[in-house]
Amino acid sequence: MRVVIKPSAVAVADFVANTLINGVREQVFKTLGLATGSTPLPVYQRLVDAYRENRISFADVSTFNLDEYLGLPASHLQSYRYFMDQHLFSQTDFNRDNTFVPDGMSTDPIHSCEDYEQEIRRRGGIDVQLLGIGRNGHIGFNEPGSSLASRTRVKTLTEQTIRDNARFFKPDEMQPHLALTMGIGTILDAKHILLLACGDGKAGALKQMLEGPVSSHCPASALQFHSDVCVVADEAAAAKLEQRDFYLHVEKEHQQFIARYYT
Ligand code: PGA
Repeated sequence: MRVVIKPSAVAVADFVANTLINGVREQVFKTLGLATGSTPLPVYQRLVDAYRENRISFADVSTFNLDEYLGLPASHLQSYRYFMDQHLFSQTDFNRDNTFVPDGMSTDPIHSCEDYEQEIRRRGGIDVQLLGIGRNGHIGFNEPGSSLASRTRVKTLTEQTIRDNARFFKPDEMQPHLALTMGIGTILDAKHILLLACGDGKAGALKQMLEGPVSSHCPASALQFHSDVCVVADEAAAAKLEQRDFYLHVEKEHQQFIARYYT
């Protein structure tokens, strides 16, 4: 795995946004796998800025979001469809018909999940999947104990995830305990994976993911089986990595290699 350690969360967002912008412009990234949460927000702001500056068009790009709360309508402020519409889709030229988020209001969630998988296949698969990481090592809503071969399905959230996300809900508001999420197998099918981790709250999970054993106890560790993962972390999230200095050295060598042979 490529591990890119940046001095700040701002530098993480710059790096990831530039990677996405270049990939979309070069038409390598035609189908994006997107994530919600606080970490990708500054990335989406940069994509909106690039669109406003006429540096990019998303008119021919399809998107699939990782997950959605079961029971929340698209109009709910905490639904992930609302989040995506508000922070990215409505501010750019994405064709809404090409943006997919699991249907939180489905009356047949099991079939909706199968349809979601089918739609991903129908569009040729995901070119690049953006991921955050939960403090418990989850990716999407694949909580510890998730099958490493899982596909899109209904999952029960852990107490910790519910607590971590409670800050977004009003005290008297119903907070869902179930979600529809792409599975780990679904995520591993993406051609490229970009995982972002910022802040000291993620340091333990990042260490488990990169330097621990592959285990459903840390769902993100399944990414060790993927051939094209780029982990982009700020110094705080990278603080517990035993091999931190080596990752910095490898990245420096990588940049020199690219400059020498490919520019
Ligand atoms: P965050 O969430 O970006 O809000 O920290 C990440 C996650 O839980 O996957």
